[in-house]
Amino acid sequence: MIVTTAEKPDAGLAEYARGLAAELGCPYAERRRETLTGLARKHAGAADGILVAGPQGLRFVAEGAEPLFYHPSMAQIRVKRLMEGGGDALVEAAGVRAGDVVVDCTAGLGADALVLSYAAGAGGRVMAVEASRMLYLIVREGLRGYASGLPELDEAMRRIEMVHGENLQTLRAMPDGSADVVYFDPMFARPVLGSASLRPLRSYAEERSLGADAIAEARRVARRAVVLKDHKTSGEFERHGFRRVRTSYSAVDYGVIGIQ
Ligand SMILES: C[S@@+](CC[C@H](N)C(=O)[O-])C[C@H]1O[C@@H](n2cnc3c(N)ncnc32)[C@H](O)[C@@H]1O
Repeated sequence: MIVTTAEKPDAGLAEYARGLAAELGCPYAERRRETLTGLARKHAGAADGILVAGPQGLRFVAEGAEPLFYHPSMAQIRVKRLMEGGGDALVEAAGVRAGDVVVDCTAGLGADALVLSYAAGAGGRVMAVEASRMLYLIVREGLRGYASGLPELDEAMRRIEMVHGENLQTLRAMPDGSADVVYFDPMFARPVLGSASLRPLRSYAEERSLGADAIAEARRVARRAVVLKDHKTSGEFERHGFRRVRTSYSAVDYGVIGIQ
């Protein structure tokens, strides 16, 4: 992989891209007037993809994969609905309220984490764990810099703490009862067809299924609930002892383990 900038970067953007290259331990390539194809011809490392830092944020391009960039997508609509006094199936199933500490064990593109962060409010805390390094980086930087024009949404983005790594390790490092809610949304064995906002995720996400060890750790860390999202046809809820919360308007259900 190599890191570069959009064309005609200012000094700040070039410095930022150099910093990302150092963090990733990969070469920084000056853009000059090159096309991305031209850069790829000159740098062997580009075969694994090019991370481009531009004024609008980061974009990762790799052959055979959808370009990856941060966008709040459906979370923007869901937060607006909450702002107008409406509900959200995840927030309701998880029972998340102002001041809560939430661990999102499968951050992905950060849409659920963003809704949970809005629901937990300025007095709450949301940690979002992501195993894929590129997803982690793109979402971390997007949450820091994306400007939606909606101050409440932007503030909820800035409050999310992204963590790179395996959720099992993150949970193991947390004390007993140190979060209100622990949430899992692993990649479904059966993808939800037509979910355009999830398509780029498929190229980068770790396709690990949820293990009993991670659920046991989640039960230890959660004070109130462990929550799982999965396809309606999934047997994971019953297999792991989750009470199923059916949703009537989407392909997914939630599962809840209440902690006494
Ligand atoms: C279906 S996506 C989550 C989507 C997310 N809820 C959202 O709203 O964007 C699942 C994500 O969990 C990540 N993941 C899978 N197994 C993981 C693990 N053991 N630890 C941390 N992240 C994991 C995948 O890389 C993927 O990005």
